[in-house]
Amino acid sequence: MSINTNTKHPEEKRIGELKHLLEVVERAKQMWQTTFDAIRDPVAIISDGFDIERANLAIARTANLDIKEMIGKKCYRVFAGRTKICDGCPLINALDDNRSLSTKLGNQIHKRDFEASAFPYPGGEAKSSAAVVHYRDITEERRLQQELIQQEKMAAIGMLAGGVAHEINNPLGGILAFTQLIMRELKDGDPLKADLSEIEHAAVRCKKIVADLLDFSRASSGKEKQWLDVNLLIEKIVPFVKAELKSYNVELQLNLGKNLPSVYGDANRLQQVFLNLLTNACQAMDKGGKLSVTTHGNNMNVNVEVKDTGCGITSDNMFKIFDPFFTTKQPGKGTGLGLSISYRIVKEHDGTIEVESEPGRGSVFTVCLPVVKNDR
Ligand SMILES: Nc1ncnc2c1ncn2[C@@H]1O[C@H](COP(=O)(O)OP(=O)(O)O)[C@@H](O)[C@H]1O
Ligand SMILES: [Mg+2]
Repeated sequence: MSINTNTKHPEEKRIGELKHLLEVVERAKQMWQTTFDAIRDPVAIISDGFDIERANLAIARTANLDIKEMIGKKCYRVFAGRTKICDGCPLINALDDNRSLSTKLGNQIHKRDFEASAFPYPGGEAKSSAAVVHYRDITEERRLQQELIQQEKMAAIGMLAGGVAHEINNPLGGILAFTQLIMRELKDGDPLKADLSEIEHAAVRCKKIVADLLDFSRASSGKEKQWLDVNLLIEKIVPFVKAELKSYNVELQLNLGKNLPSVYGDANRLQQVFLNLLTNACQAMDKGGKLSVTTHGNNMNVNVEVKDTGCGITSDNMFKIFDPFFTTKQPGKGTGLGLSISYRIVKEHDGTIEVESEPGRGSVFTVCLPVVKNDR
């Protein structure tokens, strides 16, 4: 018996060792899987044919699918929801060069911006046929970067415009005053009167632009700030857009939320913002349409949504509309200062102004103002 035990012993020992090895492998697999799923960014192993071999939970969450539904399918289809590969996808170049590569994708995935990094996966052959691809959500980073650029640009242009406008204001006043003086001296029916009236018109228009420029470069002193009822501000500006509404055949609907908290701000400046947004909305609806102003709030913010059914904004123009002097309107109709002034005023109130638009269908501008008092 003891001989038998001795002969079986190495076999049993081997099985024991194998079992232990299996346990180690199983544990390693579990650790690997847990680590993979613990990563909050989307990560996948993707083949050179763009097939997903492995995917972590974040990928499935972003795509709103089950991991099982994604395995073996094209990454650009199930993850990005596209029919062709993503613009700037680093996968093939990384596999060709057999080194890791990161690029910012040129298209959005589920309305988010991503940077994709591909790390070739050792496949045992000389050239790997798959890579670990890591997607980093850079939406917020991009937004902050753009906001910073916008703010710097505004500050620089504000200084420049303020200086120039100041210099032009006095001579312009002279031109206007002397034109009006000469007109008064001329007899009725004098042929020069029509020409002078043209000069007067042009000078008045220039004065308006200069006033806008001075306004743009003016930083709020904060002295005019007080607690305000945003609904009341909006109701008060409606009469000023009546003419615009009529001439563009626009129907206005006010959905003013009840019990809005007060906002601490400069009434005139904020009214200027809403007036700009309403005027733009009317001007975007050449063939008539609907304009709605909706307000709602909570104990943190008050939101004002100005929605139109107009021409919308192309994605190219989207980045430019808040730039001073950017306009798509005919000369004489737009100065391109409305939105840049509005942006500045909203910033002065520690608020945000955002836009969503679909070309051909309309736009929504949302102004979000904080309720807390922040006197600067
Ligand atoms: N509601 C809107 N719908 C479509 N385009 C808009 C809207 N609001 C603004 N825009 C675009 O943004 C540009 C800049 O607007 P703004 O700064 O107010 O200048 P302006 O109205 O003088 O052109 C407009 O020329 C237009 O192309
Ligand atoms: Mg405008």
